[in-house]
Amino acid sequence: MEKMWAGRFEKALDKQADDFNSSIHFDKKMYKQDIRGSLEHALMLCTCGIISKIEYEKIAEGLSSILEDLNSGALSFDENAEDIHMFIEAELTKRIGDYGKKLHTARSRNDQVALDLRLYMRDQVSDIISLLKELISAIKEQAEKNQDAIMPGYTHLQRAQPITFAHHLLAYAMMLIRDVTRLEDATKRMNYSPLGSCALAGTTYPTNRDMVAKNLGFDGVCMNSIDGVSDRDYCIELESAFATIMMHLSRFSEEIILWSSWEFKFVELDDSYTTGSSIMPQKKNPDMAELVRGKTGRVYGDLMATLTMLKGIPLAYNKDMQEDKEAIFDATETVIKCIQVFIPMIKTMKPIKENMYNAAGRGFINATDLADYLTKKGMPFRSAYKIVGTIVGECIKKDITLDKMTLEEYKSHSDMFENDLYEEISLESCVAKRISKGSTGYASVKEQLDYVAEFLK
Ligand code: ARG
Repeated sequence: MEKMWAGRFEKALDKQADDFNSSIHFDKKMYKQDIRGSLEHALMLCTCGIISKIEYEKIAEGLSSILEDLNSGALSFDENAEDIHMFIEAELTKRIGDYGKKLHTARSRNDQVALDLRLYMRDQVSDIISLLKELISAIKEQAEKNQDAIMPGYTHLQRAQPITFAHHLLAYAMMLIRDVTRLEDATKRMNYSPLGSCALAGTTYPTNRDMVAKNLGFDGVCMNSIDGVSDRDYCIELESAFATIMMHLSRFSEEIILWSSWEFKFVELDDSYTTGSSIMPQKKNPDMAELVRGKTGRVYGDLMATLTMLKGIPLAYNKDMQEDKEAIFDATETVIKCIQVFIPMIKTMKPIKENMYNAAGRGFINATDLADYLTKKGMPFRSAYKIVGTIVGECIKKDITLDKMTLEEYKSHSDMFENDLYEEISLESCVAKRISKGSTGYASVKEQLDYVAEFLK
């Protein structure tokens, strides 16, 4: 196919160079956005008297028929075309003749690609936000059902203090809520129209960029035409928000993998979200969680690729920028697929409360509460901390837990110990006594659940 820009050249583009240069095999994803942008551009040209009504009608008709045919499959993408923008324009001219050649008045492909990607990502981000909300809701449901499930909370992966499974799960809900707001914030900055930048310097035609922007749902136009076609920082913001989502999902995955191991057995994953082994008949592997953890690397890579691609290029458009799309498409698809598989995996995950409780019973995770017991009776915390440390040492030697020490033994360390200490260090009361805002205490967890519900409203 002859290039639209062939006029100035004496020789055709080498076949290999042509393939190398072409982006249609990935930017065809944006055909709907490209056509939508062209329709609004043509309407504006007509409204501003730059093209006639009949020319506009022909163009609109032609573009609509192309859209219809691409949607139905009646028209397929010409993989030899340079990119989606060239393909649609060429197809338009094929269908409506010279009228089609008027469409590209007062705009450039640099505007189109910048516009299409913003429109495309706006839709994708809105889908991702809905998926994130679905995931948050699944986490909330599990948390609601597990407000009484006491488990060890960890630091350094060492048993630290008793918490509830609900409290632990809600930590992830809070992270994902921030992820939603990060995407919303980035969208606000992205939502300005670059169309009409006209390659870089603007145009001599009396265009109305604001009209196009408004009709395409933008909050305004890019105020500088050079910036309009050169800016890809919205890709970086979105990719970095995607990378953060993946990091959160990856930490969650890591815990799910640990929890479903025989060493923990805090949860049982549903058969539909696990796989077997080709050789070991007993195996049930948490592949989905592992894959999410593994795919996190690609999304980080996509962010890095875009940052690096942009760092050395002068203003305005450079062909390097064609690389923006594969990176952000890959990041977007990966995030979507990961959240999609995460939602049902979380919904069907069965917590094994008994194992959590038993684990919480070992590891002296009520030692802080024992120290607090002495402190509340007037002993300075550091002295109480030291005494309890000694008692824990003794228990380890005797291979018993704190509740198995006799009152007499306790009294040999401090006569402040009384019989009520046993109630104080029971796991239930360790949780119930946590009354600070945001804590694992039952009332606080209820408050967190309400917060999440309010967010999801
Ligand atoms: N296919 C190109 C891209 O994805 C579109 C813009 C090309 N503009 C140009 N002047 N070569 O970035």
